[in-house]
Amino acid sequence: METQIKDLKARIVFNSRGEKAFEVDVIVGESVGRASAPAGASTGGGEAVPFPPSGPEGAVEAFKAYSNKFIGFDACDIEGLAELLHQIDPSPSFTNIGGAAAFAITVAAVDAASKALKVPMFKLIGGDKVYAHPYPLGNVLGGGKHAGEGSPDIQEFLSIPVGSRRVYDAIYANILVHKDVRRLIEKLDKTFAGGKGDEGAWAPNLNDLNALEVVSTAVNNVSDKIGFKVKMGIDFASGSLFDPKTGVYNYSRRGVKLTKEEQINFVLSIIDKYSPAYIEDPLFEDDFEGFATLTKASKNTLIVGDDIFVTNSSLLLKGAEIGAGNGVILKVNQVGPLGDAIGFAKVAKANKYTIVVSHRSGESVDPHLAHIALGVSSEIMKSGVVGGERIAKLNELIRIDELYGPLKMMKVIK
Ligand code: PGA
Ligand code: ZN
Repeated sequence: METQIKDLKARIVFNSRGEKAFEVDVIVGESVGRASAPAGASTGGGEAVPFPPSGPEGAVEAFKAYSNKFIGFDACDIEGLAELLHQIDPSPSFTNIGGAAAFAITVAAVDAASKALKVPMFKLIGGDKVYAHPYPLGNVLGGGKHAGEGSPDIQEFLSIPVGSRRVYDAIYANILVHKDVRRLIEKLDKTFAGGKGDEGAWAPNLNDLNALEVVSTAVNNVSDKIGFKVKMGIDFASGSLFDPKTGVYNYSRRGVKLTKEEQINFVLSIIDKYSPAYIEDPLFEDDFEGFATLTKASKNTLIVGDDIFVTNSSLLLKGAEIGAGNGVILKVNQVGPLGDAIGFAKVAKANKYTIVVSHRSGESVDPHLAHIALGVSSEIMKSGVVGGERIAKLNELIRIDELYGPLKMMKVIK
């Protein structure tokens, strides 16, 4: 069966936050593959820029000028598509065509090939190997750049069901934690009206310390109820806390400013008290050495880099040399083409980093993230807990389990 690209089209649609999003249709045979790019709010400095300076409309105009180069190209050739995109836009961060276009073209192409060949997308990405499910990691309480004034300074308090053996049970466990967190917030704040942040996590009028207590209690409650271990995770999104002018971490809601050493000690005290399975971006993105210090000091907690590595293989190799972190966030749109993100996953595996394939706070309703997570053998998929755009990815894991499984769960720190 031929998988040559016959045609492709681009348009502007909207993401879950109501922002303009770049969407592409790729036609292979009679099949239409489709993908629209997600968008971050707390982005790392080294990320591909989503749009050229002329904005989303300019990105669609630019697309019209170069898209014919893809006609006749093999939609299954994920690496070749990435190379062609780099030829079209040789700038280091896709400033000419926009990273959103690079994301959407490459993911839509694999979607089209998958439909034309009737082979699931994850197998086109991952090839012939044994597949296992990533553990779903979901934001249940949040603040920072994803929520309003009065919510916690720390961006995300997460749930990860490290003891579950089936993906359906794992997804359900996170949903139960999300529900229990609401109940516990209401006990502390009678005026809580059920507000949520961009990723569907509750956004209460609580400070970080209360939020830690609430989420820790909820994961323990659900562990007891469901019969397997559910643990807490935290994404500090430190880039949003760190003030480069003064060099301190500013927890404005609590009125606390921490030096680098105090920040490290704060993180270690949380690890000591709550044994979270997962900590993301505990330090700002240039502090490779601080990441290495924390990684050495925390045996049973993953120290995961998001803004520090931005799905960029060279930054990851720099980190690997000194043991900065033992987990990586993989967000395809941080780098642009799917092929580049797969290359990053290979570098992560070779250097024994746990891979966390992640959504963005502004998401599409596409299910593709689940296939990318399986395709690169990620141990964890971070994709929220509730909300249509989050559930779309989680439900896809359930379908894959039924159609191509049952699949075991990946191994992750317990
Ligand atoms: P973003 O945040 O998608 O808004 O960049 C998510 C994260 O920091 O993990
Ligand atoms: Zn993050």
